[in-house]
Amino acid sequence: MKKIYKYIISPTCILTSLFAVLAQITFAQTVTIPVETANNALVLQVDKGKDVNTVYFGTKLANAAEYDQVTGVYKQFCVCNGTGDYTGLLSSAYTPSGSRNLAEPAITVTHADGNNSLDLKYVSHNVTKISDDVSLLSIVLKDPVYDFEVTLYYKSYFKNDVIEQWSVIKHHEKGNVTLNKFASANLYLKAKSFWLRQYHGDWGKEMQPEETRITHGIKTIDTKLGARANLFEPSVFMVSFDKPATEDEGNVLYGAMEWSGNFRVDLELDPLDNLKIIAGINNFASAYTLKPGEDFTTPAFLYTFSDKGKGDASRKLQSWARNYKLMDGKGSRLTLLNNWESTFFDFNESRLSGLLQDTKKLGVDLFLLDDGWFANKYPRNDDHAGLGDWQENRKKLPNGIASLVKEAQNDGVKFGIWIEPEMVNPKSRLYETHPDWVIKQPKRDEYYYRNQLVLDLSNPQVQDFVFSIVDSLFIKSPGLAYIKWDCNAVIYNAYSAHLQNQSHLYIEYVRGLYKVLERVRAKYPAVPMMLCSGGGGRVDYAALQYFTEFWPSDNTEPMERIFIQWEYSYFYPALISANHVTDWGKQPIKFRTDVAMMGRLGFDIPVSKLSGNDLQFCQEAVKTYNTVKQIIFQGEQYRLSDPREQSVASVMYVDSVKTSGVIFNYLVNNRFDEGSKLPIRLKGLDPVKKYTIKEINLYPGIVSPIDSAKSYSGDFLMRIGFNPEVNAGRTSVVLQINESR
Ligand code: GLA
Repeated sequence: MKKIYKYIISPTCILTSLFAVLAQITFAQTVTIPVETANNALVLQVDKGKDVNTVYFGTKLANAAEYDQVTGVYKQFCVCNGTGDYTGLLSSAYTPSGSRNLAEPAITVTHADGNNSLDLKYVSHNVTKISDDVSLLSIVLKDPVYDFEVTLYYKSYFKNDVIEQWSVIKHHEKGNVTLNKFASANLYLKAKSFWLRQYHGDWGKEMQPEETRITHGIKTIDTKLGARANLFEPSVFMVSFDKPATEDEGNVLYGAMEWSGNFRVDLELDPLDNLKIIAGINNFASAYTLKPGEDFTTPAFLYTFSDKGKGDASRKLQSWARNYKLMDGKGSRLTLLNNWESTFFDFNESRLSGLLQDTKKLGVDLFLLDDGWFANKYPRNDDHAGLGDWQENRKKLPNGIASLVKEAQNDGVKFGIWIEPEMVNPKSRLYETHPDWVIKQPKRDEYYYRNQLVLDLSNPQVQDFVFSIVDSLFIKSPGLAYIKWDCNAVIYNAYSAHLQNQSHLYIEYVRGLYKVLERVRAKYPAVPMMLCSGGGGRVDYAALQYFTEFWPSDNTEPMERIFIQWEYSYFYPALISANHVTDWGKQPIKFRTDVAMMGRLGFDIPVSKLSGNDLQFCQEAVKTYNTVKQIIFQGEQYRLSDPREQSVASVMYVDSVKTSGVIFNYLVNNRFDEGSKLPIRLKGLDPVKKYTIKEINLYPGIVSPIDSAKSYSGDFLMRIGFNPEVNAGRTSVVLQINESR
């Protein structure tokens, strides 16, 4: 790493004498530490006082030596102290508190002697090359007074411009230290203005965007729900610099916490008009007691940046996820028939046998048996009872799951199953036997979410129990091919009968969950698993290391889904978006199927009740999907027409060599005469190549107006566009584009 030696001359206030100026000319060493990726740079600098500051974040400069001159051209001083910000800490790479700091800190501690002050000075740094693409920078910081240390980690993925950042905190004081706040990352950004796109939601309403200019003070995005933590708010967000980024223009940062519990992201526009982003586990009710010599490793905060708009940023993140983060990110996914909405809790072996036949008839890979198959003393016939008692219900399934798995295999389809292993109904044998395994206040009334409570995963016995639910299913039925892992309740009355220190519960819950998932993956590394949480109540990149897909929402009304899937797609690839065709809403089966095809396709409809044409359409659609799904799963995604701005929503997937693509188009405004009046400009093609476009997924008997014999250059299609001819009579149009030779 390059060290830059220089004279530091501080401009001083008007009355300063020449002698004073000379006295401030000191020979000092600054160390510049750039974290460069293909297009971007995060530049840190150690100043003469050994504070580590962020001096630059954005598109990288052609000449890295010039990072040193960046701070010199900013004159954002506080007027009355001439040179600084009152603290010398505003741009800190990891803001300590209790000493000079006046802003939101990244870390707050109470030392073993009760003192609350912390200062963190540079000690050393090190860069390890993990692969051609991945590097790990670590920076060690120490308090000059206390034996307290923080190491900052920056794992950079060069090609995708992604950084994962976390910290490891430890000390060797004479007693325990309390960590009152312990962020993963602390960014410092400069721009004329900042625009935040954040998301809120509720059951059936996931990923509702709001975009606002960030004003001075602190905006916090957080959750305190413990489990199903994203019910009201996920941690994913975007910050645009100078003006709101569009799909193809503007500087935009994407951020996300890799943590499946309480998180907190503070965005503070400071007195100098710069933006500090501090992200980590939520410290709400979570002061952490750290023993001498023990490490506290924070989860990673993930971010990427693009100067080419939201689309480019999302493609970087999607590519990174497939390459580095997701379980089986480069693989394929199974199509399936789920029984939740067609039967709810009301089924038996013969009804399921019929559904296995329907699975085969439809042509999908797998049958997924949902909730309601378990519990005997308190049978799971609705959501009031049985959760926790994972034995097959003898009345509904006298021959057990194993016989159904075998029957499915004989029918030539795979078999998957729903579980919700972290939860318990008070009406269950589990609750009667192990009330101490349940998160609840000992002296207060219980309070329920969907008639259930959360098990205390901080307790290793509970971890064993949860692992054993999955394990025994596979031991009894080795042919089991898929798990839907649900998590429907939030944590009320947070109290663990197991933990000494109650303020560790929210953190230990998540750690316990990851321990169980580690064990599941160690023993069953390949089985596909869906991450479900009453819909998208738990979607994050930490959990997604163990899952092959997520359930975006219980809301499968296809018009709603266009919007929900659109927003998720900024952060997650289509490969992991589990989309089911259901009977929600009034759209025809074609519209519903087309929307579900923009991800991992499944059905949750009574197949036996489909009309002849509807069934034929679905069967053909599954076949068509199988021919294009790899483009959807592994291709580049381009958002062509935004349903929030236009009457037509249009999304395109193109393979990496730009020879084939699929374009989904929907009418999202049913006012009179709405439709695709203008051509829609395609993206991601080779301008020189020639392409033909044909309509696929046609309903039986329908003739497409699209002339598939015509050929267009990529240049034409990207400059002028193509008209999918969406209108009130053609509300959903799927096009396949291929290079013509
Ligand atoms: C949750 C899931 C649904 C379904 C039900 C079963 O709500 O999101 O898909 O599995 O539980 O109870």
